[in-house]
Parts: sequence; C-alpha cells; structure tokens
Amino acid sequence: MRTMNSNSSTNLTVLDHPLVARDLTILRDAKTNTVDFRAAMARVATILAYFALKELPLKKIAINTPVTATEGFQLDTEIIVVPILRAGLSLVDAILDFVPDAKVGHLGMYRDEETHKPVDYYSKLPKRLDNALVLLVDPMLATGGSADDAIGFLKKQGATNIRFISLISAPEGLNLIQKKYPDVSIITASVDEKLNDDAFIVPGLGDAGDRYFGTL
Ligand code: PRP
Repeated sequence: MRTMNSNSSTNLTVLDHPLVARDLTILRDAKTNTVDFRAAMARVATILAYFALKELPLKKIAINTPVTATEGFQLDTEIIVVPILRAGLSLVDAILDFVPDAKVGHLGMYRDEETHKPVDYYSKLPKRLDNALVLLVDPMLATGGSADDAIGFLKKQGATNIRFISLISAPEGLNLIQKKYPDVSIITASVDEKLNDDAFIVPGLGDAGDRYFGTL
C-alpha cells in the first residue's frame, strides 16, 4: 500500500521523501563532520517520528475558541520512548518535540565486535509499560540482534504495543524482526543492500553512535 511520502506494508513503513533522500546522503557521506551529521540526523528523526506517531488514539474534549464552543482532541495513550544506547539517543528529541510529556526508558546495549552479538549493560524503564505505546529507537538495524533482545525484554516487562524506529535497516535484521515480532511496526528511512563480513550495513553510514557522538 502506498501512502503519502511513505511505502508501507503490514508492519513496515519505509520513508519516501526528497528531504530524507538528501539527508541520508549527508549522513552516509564519510566526509560529513559531526555538526552536519547531528543536524541531518535531527531532521530525519523528525520525519521518522511523524510517521511513527500516526494512527494514535484520540480522545474528544470540549474547548472554547474565541468565537464558539467546539470539540478538540487529546492523545489518548501514554507514550514511552526507549532508546537503545548509545546511538538511539539521537532519535529521542524528535519524539519529545511532538510529545513533550512522553516518558523515556533506556536500554544499554553494545554489539560485541567479534561475535556481533548484543551485550546488555543497563536498563531503566518506567514501572508500567502495558498501557503505553512504546517507541523503541535505534538508528541502525543490522543483524537485528540488538532489536531482538530489546523487543524481547520490553515484552517481558509488559509492553504490548511496540513500534520500532530505525534510520537504516539491513534486510537481514528486518527479516528477523518482522518474522519474530509480526505485531511490532517498523518505521525506517532506508532498507540498504546487505551486511558485510563485519556485520556492518552496506552502504550504510558506518558506526552511527561514533559519528553522532564524535568518538571516532
Ligand atoms: C549499533 C547500533 C545498534 C546495533 C545494531 O550499536 O546502534 O544498537 O549496533 O546492530 P545489530 O542489529 O547487529 O544488533 P553499537 O554496538 O555500535 O553501540 P553504540 O550505539 O554505543 O555505538
């Protein structure tokens, strides 16, 4: 099904927008400096957040305009953003701009450079996840190991409504998450070609965390 500015199948939305194409190019370019990298990430994050926040339940409320009484709307669900540290932090502010009262949980995970498996080192989540829309965010979906661990953990903690936002996804990680968690919607700006032998996304953009935080 094609919707305005995105291509979506059952649980996958791939952004299709000229501004995203322009900013992905800036992000991919090895010559881009930290300042420009952060700015491009922030712009794409806003568009990802816009699509990830589609189809939220609304509650009618009564308000008065300066002219008359009328009906308005409030969001009718709690929203919890969960970045996978570190790189996921780059996508949090865009969501908080739209939903300033969203709660933020953190999952600390890094990928072992040899085994390519995720290693958990931290977690701090709001007490209850069951009544909330949980937006799990991480710019890179490579093997899918980190997202798999994170989604499994969120479900164990009670999350029932999870959307996963990723900037760039490899087909390998996407297939894993789509098959294992058909109930989890995925919003991404790009589905790249493949993983290389080091499990880096090709063409990708390198290590998102290192480029965003300037730790190269
Ligand atoms: C990167 C990325 C994801 C993970 C993706 O994190 O931000 O969390 O790897 O790989 P996967 O799909 O194969 O699990 P990294 O280990 O570089 O940690 P960082 O965010 O601290 O840089």
